[in-house]
Amino acid sequence: MNANDTLAWIRLCRVDDIPPLGSRVVERDAGNLALFRTAQDRVFALLDRCPHKQGPLSQGIVHGESVTCPLHGWNIGLDDGQAKAPDQGCARRFPVRVEAGVVYVEGPPLRADARPPGGGTGGLAEPDPLCPGSGGALAPTVGDAQRNG
Ligand code: FES
Repeated sequence: MNANDTLAWIRLCRVDDIPPLGSRVVERDAGNLALFRTAQDRVFALLDRCPHKQGPLSQGIVHGESVTCPLHGWNIGLDDGQAKAPDQGCARRFPVRVEAGVVYVEGPPLRADARPPGGGTGGLAEPDPLCPGSGGALAPTVGDAQRNG
């Protein structure tokens, strides 16, 4: 069994629970998840930490398919988590699926006893291959989401 065998799609909220051009935070022990909704109702999920100095991306301004960090104005791509040039770095991103207006994020099982052998937390604990060094493991706990914006 490898870590990916334990991934599951976690139901988080409805698309309508995320304000257009806004965000919603899902609180997690190992780092909050920020869900973003574009003007075209596309939904993206990033770790809520700017790659610059850990600013809360969920508090930023969504434009197109980017978010501008509220602290120092870096622009981060929502689809890949990459900082736009000339800045460099990236925020951990998570796969999102929307079905019948419901948002799911791919993650490990919610039950602690369902962790993969060896004590891992499933695929979300693995580094994002497009974002080396981003870490971003999310604890497999159920976090209540709160509206932000
Ligand atoms: S912390 Fe985000 S731009 Fe500085």
